[in-house]
Amino acid sequence: MDVVVGGGVVGLSIAWRLARAGRPVTVVDPAPASGASHAAAGMLAPVSEVTYTEEPLLRLGVASLRRWPAFAADLTADAGLTPAAGPAAGPAAGPAGVSAAVRDGLDLRAQGTLDVAFGADDLAALGELAAFMEKLGLPVERLTGRECRRLEPMLAPSVRGGLLAPGDAWVDPRRVTAALLAALERRAVPLVRAGVSELLRDGGRVTGVRLAPPPEDHPAAPEGSEQGDEIRAERVILAAGAWSAGLADVPVRPVKGQIMRLRSPVPLLSRCVRGMVHGAPVYLVPRGDGELVVGATQEELGFDTRVTAGGLYELLRDARELVPGVTELEVAEVVAGLRPGTPDNLPIIGPGAAPGLVLATGHYRGGVLMAPLTAAILQGEEGDLASLCSPARFRDIS
Ligand code: GLY
Repeated sequence: MDVVVGGGVVGLSIAWRLARAGRPVTVVDPAPASGASHAAAGMLAPVSEVTYTEEPLLRLGVASLRRWPAFAADLTADAGLTPAAGPAAGPAAGPAGVSAAVRDGLDLRAQGTLDVAFGADDLAALGELAAFMEKLGLPVERLTGRECRRLEPMLAPSVRGGLLAPGDAWVDPRRVTAALLAALERRAVPLVRAGVSELLRDGGRVTGVRLAPPPEDHPAAPEGSEQGDEIRAERVILAAGAWSAGLADVPVRPVKGQIMRLRSPVPLLSRCVRGMVHGAPVYLVPRGDGELVVGATQEELGFDTRVTAGGLYELLRDARELVPGVTELEVAEVVAGLRPGTPDNLPIIGPGAAPGLVLATGHYRGGVLMAPLTAAILQGEEGDLASLCSPARFRDIS
């Protein structure tokens, strides 16, 4: 049997794929789907999120994005959700495309990302990025300010130009984790709602996990928990995101992101829009139900998940530069999550140094995007790409 430690989008995807392949698996998490996956905007945007030094990350992201439509279709069916009436990830934009996508259950949409520039420097940077993409054979379109506003009429008049990555997509991560939990339940995969205090070892081998006792101020164990117990396993798959370094020697650190969800009666945008404002990146992700997600701060503050006035101020200030109309919208929610950052921004996927330990962590800004690829790599697929994420690239991993 395998034990997956971590019930975020990565851990749940791995468990679901294992269960589909007929492998016995148990998931352990004190509060599944409540960490970074809950805060995430769900951009499946390997092209528009990349920087020059990150070609390996781009390759991983593009490969995982290719897997998303089949992953979503299988998950929709396995979770018992109503399938889409039409293609969920088609080119349709605007309200008609939106409502078809919502029926899909995961709100997977693929109208691309529009990266906009205000100043000459931003424009030059976008031009260089476009040249890099073109060299790699990735589809991008350079647009004038007027062409950007034709695509997205709510953009600020001061937008000078942009870069459209038409293949980028996005999904609602909360719908994805809810679907994964439903699919696991339908396949009778045990979900243990408890923390893990340590990995069990026998000689050099990892043989299971010890469940954490409930915190002292927690009067009762959450339903279904088995704290104090041990779970023995042939393999322990560590998918605990920012918390992974507390259980094994992996170079993963928390990178805080604050995010804001706004509500609009009429969708303001038909695709993801992003840009650099005051030197910081900001993005806006429209959901099929009219929600607009604005993200995200990038803060190195350890395990701090406080939502701060300064963080929200910067998000709103920068979002308003891109799309002035955001200030009219209702604030639905503010939330902070912890991305699992790694020294090279690449995920850590594959066997740990200790037999019995498998790592699936460090997905940093791309956990939702990379979930299908991660699950596939752990099933022995994608050998070339797997070597890019191999834990062996860091020394002292145990
Ligand atoms: N992928 C976007 C973020 O981490 O903010």
